[in-house]
Formats: sequence, structure tokens, C-alpha cells
Amino acid sequence: MSLSKLEDINLNQLENYSKDININYISSLKLSNYRNYKSYKASFDKYPIAFVGKNGVGKTNILESISLMQPGRGIRSVKLEEMSYKYSGNFGININLKKNEESFKIGSSLDLEVSKLRKVKVDGKYISPLLLTKYLAVISLTPLMDKIFIEGSTNRRRFFDKISWIFISSHAQNIRLYEKSIKERNNLLKDNSNDAIWFNNIEKQIVKYGTQIIIDRFKVLNILNAQIKDSTANFPKASMVFTGEIENTFSENSDLDYFKDFFSKTLYEKRKQDFYRGSTSIGPHKADLLVTYKEKDMKASLCSTGEQKSLLISIILSVAKSYKKYTNLSPILLLDEVFSHLDNDKKQSLSKEIENLKSQAFMTGIDESDFVTFNKDSCIINLDDSTNRSANEF
Ligand SMILES: Nc1ncnc2c1ncn2[C@@H]1O[C@H](COP(=O)(O)OP(=O)(O)OP(=O)(O)O)[C@@H](O)[C@H]1O
Ligand SMILES: [Mg+2]
Repeated sequence: MSLSKLEDINLNQLENYSKDININYISSLKLSNYRNYKSYKASFDKYPIAFVGKNGVGKTNILESISLMQPGRGIRSVKLEEMSYKYSGNFGININLKKNEESFKIGSSLDLEVSKLRKVKVDGKYISPLLLTKYLAVISLTPLMDKIFIEGSTNRRRFFDKISWIFISSHAQNIRLYEKSIKERNNLLKDNSNDAIWFNNIEKQIVKYGTQIIIDRFKVLNILNAQIKDSTANFPKASMVFTGEIENTFSENSDLDYFKDFFSKTLYEKRKQDFYRGSTSIGPHKADLLVTYKEKDMKASLCSTGEQKSLLISIILSVAKSYKKYTNLSPILLLDEVFSHLDNDKKQSLSKEIENLKSQAFMTGIDESDFVTFNKDSCIINLDDSTNRSANEF
């Protein structure tokens, strides 16, 4: 079968979303034993919410708890036990999700006495955390991402994969299965195994899941680049490409069978070299996401701190807009300390973009005045004195 790899870029066909869904927000949040909260309860409207308060009051912790409504280990990417109140070994996060006429109760919990893994329940039924993207999409931007263009490629891949799985929910599962196969091949290499059948079987899995990961990353990449190109937002335009030995071959050849063959042969040929390295040297786990500030034709890694932040915002906005375009749902945004670092012009632009998206954005800041650019529907929750009011009531 010869198939042009990217001709089916149509997310409406990839996921069976209904076109008439347009309300999508978290109406309540309940934390038990989570980080600094023995217990915390809040109800929200569908509009942007700003958590303000002193350093250490627990603003980022609330955003992190919402980020656990996606696959993975949340915006800080740390061990689950660190998230339990004083490392007690168990926590619970419960939300009510309103999705048009429907309503879902989603719970994410840890009980180390029972399992090291977190358990996720939707309306009382256990589901794999990898399937959470079927219910909601959460897009986050935190200060931990400030160095994303400068540091090693791992976090850039992770950043992009988190974006990809909100569009294509099987991406999370494919990443998990691919990583498992790579680990198995690395173990074979370490054991200096010459079990050809075992090698062949594992490499077959690597090619299967690896190819799908590359296809899906490229699909999402094309969608986002197109969105950014047409963007009228007051943020610098980013352009993104995936680079890597295997990705370059993928881009150059339109025949999928040829590509899979090439991937498979390369893995076979590299067995000896990889044995000396002690790890698998080719595959999408080695890819890098290269981001460029388009108007300046400048690599993001060479841009100023403020420019890098603006590029990230531009990418996040393109994700949110594309997601809305293809699913008719507004994604939930987590914006930790984003507004405090923007000049007034950019604050104005970003708040307008969020309002136009009709996204429920959970934001944090030290000062209430960071959020004056939001309209009266938005809400400020002051964690110092636990008063809630709309953003422009000062
Ligand atoms: N497992 C835990 N158990 C109890 N407290 C914790 C746990 N993990 C973190 N904390 C505490 O939670 C508090 C709030 O942290 P958080 O990062 O949410 O603060 P913040 O309001 O975002 O502050 P900042 O303005 O400095 O960013 C901190 O004092 C931190 O030490
Ligand atoms: Mg914080």
C-alpha cells in the first residue's frame, strides 16, 4: 500500500467531535490532601479566573491540580507522592466538567498504599489517565517553560506531545507504547543479547508506534503553523519544524511503506553501534522541535527573554484557536504568572484573545491589577482573604 502520508490532515475525521458543542468549562474543583491544601473547594463560571495572593499561598498548586486532568504528571512533571499533603501518600482532585448539555464528574487520585499509579474516574468508572483528552483539553504555560528554547530537546518534545494529544487522543497511548518498546530494546542492547527474533519483534513495535507518532506530530505541526501564519494576534509569529535523522527522511519521502522500511533497516543496521552506546540512537524520541521567530528569521534560542515568552504565547494561542476551529470547543488554559511579565499592550492583547476564544483561563498573579484588562465576567479569587470578585471591580 502506497499512501501519501499527510494527505489526510483533517482533524474532523480524526476525532468524532460533535460540531454543536460550544460550552466547555470546569464548574467546580475540590482538592483533598493536595499539596498545601488539606481541603479546598471552589465553584467557577465559564469565564477567566485569576488566582491572586502572596508567594507560597497556593496559586500554582491549584493550576497544577487542574493539569492532572490530562495524561502525564502535570505542569511541574514531578513524582505523584510529592503532590500529596506533606507527602502523606494520598490525594484527591475532583472536578465537575460542563460540556454543552452534558456534565462529567472527573476524579484523579493517589493512594500509595494501594498503588503507585494515579487512578482516574469519570462518573464513577475507572479510565486510563491516557484517555482524559477525550473529555477535556488543557493547555498550559508556566514559568518552568521559560527556558524551553534554550534547554535540551526533551522538554520541547514533551511540550509538543502534550499539545498533540489534545488533538489526537491516541497520541498519548502511542507515546507510552513506543517508550516501552525503546526501553525493551535498550535492555536487550545492555544484555548484549543476540536473540534476533526478539530484536525483530521489538523493532517492529518501534517502527509501528514511532511512525504513528511522527505522522501525528507532523499533522499537528502543519495545523499550528498554518494557524500562526494567518494569526492577527499582537504576538510574534513562530514557525516550527521537527528535525532529526528519521524526521528528515520522513519529510523527504512521500511513500509510507518506503519510510517504514527505512526505519526498520536503520534500526537493524544500528544494533551494533547502539550496543556500544547502550541506547537506541534513532527514532522520534531523538527529534527536536526547532522554533523560529518568523518576522526576524531568528532562532527562538537566540531571542530575548521577553521575545521567547511571546513566542510561547503565540504558539499556545495557535493551539487554542486550532483546537476551537476543529472541535468547536474552547480549551481550558492554565496561565501561571503570565500576565505579570507582559507590558500593558501585550496584557491587553492577550486578555482580548482569551475573551474571543471564550476559554476558561485559570491564571495566577501576585497583584489584582495585573488583570484589569479583563471584562466584568471574569473573576478574581484572592487566596489571601478568599474573596471572589469580578476582575474590574477595584
Ligand atoms: N506536598 C506538599 N505538602 C504541603 N505543602 C506543599 C507541598 N508541596 C508544596 N507545598 C507548599 O505549597 C505552598 C504553595 O505553593 P505554590 O507553588 O502553589 O505557591 P504560589 O502561590 O504559586 O507562590 P508563588 O507566588 O511564589 O509562585 C508552598 O509554600 C509550598 O512549599
Ligand atoms: Mg506560583
